[in-house]
This record gives sequence, C-alpha cells and structure tokens, in this order.
Amino acid sequence: MTNNYIYFIANWKMFGFKNAVNHLNKVITLCKTKKYSKAKIVYCPPYTILSDLCRKIKKTKIDIGAQNCHEANDFGASTGSINSKMIKDAGAKYVILGHSENRSSGESSYLINKKIKSALSEKLKIIFCIGENLEQRKKKQTIKILKNQILKGLKNVKNIKNIFFAYEPIWSIGTGRILEIKQLERDIYLLNKFIVNKYKSNDIKILYGGSVNPKNINDLKNVKLINGFLIGKASQNQNKLIDIIKKTFN
Ligand code: PGA
Repeated sequence: MTNNYIYFIANWKMFGFKNAVNHLNKVITLCKTKKYSKAKIVYCPPYTILSDLCRKIKKTKIDIGAQNCHEANDFGASTGSINSKMIKDAGAKYVILGHSENRSSGESSYLINKKIKSALSEKLKIIFCIGENLEQRKKKQTIKILKNQILKGLKNVKNIKNIFFAYEPIWSIGTGRILEIKQLERDIYLLNKFIVNKYKSNDIKILYGGSVNPKNINDLKNVKLINGFLIGKASQNQNKLIDIIKKTFN
C-alpha cells in the first residue's frame, strides 16, 4: 500500500432504513483509536439516508458518498434523478460512478464520462468502477477492457487527483469468488503502469472490489499497489466491516 490512507468504501447498494445510522456506532469508536488512524472509511448509503449518515458522522474522520448521480450538474426536468450539486449539498464528498450494476442496466462509458465531469466540477471524489466479465477474462482481455473503460470514462479529464480507480472483476461481485492473489497482483501492476504512463501522476489510488470479506482480507491486504477496498455485502454488517479493518492493520 503506497498511499497514506487505506480506504474502506462501504457500498450499501439498495439496503438500509433510517435506523442504519446506528450501524455506525462501533465503527465510529474504532476510528478514534490511534491504531486505525490511517483507515479512511467512506459509507455510500442509498440517497434516502444520505443526509442522516452525513449528520451522524459529523466531527468524525468518516466520510460519506453517494452511489451514483445524474450527468447534469444543474437542476432540470429529470424525474427520479439527483445531481452532483445535490449530493454535495447533502454533505457527501464522494460518489461511486461506473458500477457494473449500473453499466449492465445500460449506463454507457459516454454517460459515465459526463457524470464524472459533472461530479468533478463539484469537487466530489469519484470511485470510478472498472472491471471485466468472466468471458473477457477467459479470453485474456482484462487489461484491454480496463484501459478502454478508463480512456472512455475519463475522456478529456486531465487531473486524476480526485479519481479512485476501483477495479472490480464483475464475476467476483457478490459471488464469494476472488482472483488468485498472484494474478490479481499482476493485473493491478499492469493497471497501475498504464495509469502512471497515461496521466504522469504519482498520486494514483487503486481500490479492489468484489467479495471482499473477513476471510479473504488477509490475502487481499498484501496485494501491492492497492490503496484500499470497495466493499459491498460485508460492509452492511458493522462487525464484518470492523473485522476487515482490524485484519488489514494487523
Ligand atoms: P460485494 O460488492 O463486496 O458484495 O461483492 C462489491 C461492489 O459491488 O462494489
């Protein structure tokens, strides 16, 4: 892990009522201890409880993110949508964009690019998801797919300071299956190399996502060039999230 912080991005997906704020209590306590001072936790709840969580984490080091946003950063006639200005207004600092669950329901790289630009203009930090499906992996197209998603998603984006590259093999999300660690390390190495060459930056943040849990974290935490994790299912259970954080720092 090259970066200062280790990031734990909790993607709650379509889960959580208002009382989910209480699920943060133990994590808030954990974050206060010196041992975990380098753990940066970002909760990404559904829109409906974004403000509740923002209020809850005030005066802590925890941050809040949204799970998507509309591509326009102005108000408009778009039923059911939320733009990056509104996300910021709610108190969130991050937004997840390009998640495969949204790509699979029709979100194109062109649209993701517009969303990224809109969110950047509001100074939000972007959890930019990229990843291959199983067929593409079998055909050894992984790196080509990742490069293509990056080039299209970040078209005309020059500064990647606020971009977190979240590598999530699609076939690994929610399945309990992860890549063999050596293979993952190699893919991350190639991904990092491409980003370094393309953006001439030393400040590159790469996250891994896909079935991160308390059982596999001891292996995953040793993968070089990873700055943290995008965690779905396991992050909805505060004891599991705490277990993941503790094991990462052990
Ligand atoms: P998972 O989800 O941890 O449940 O696999 C990760 C994600 O979709 O971001």
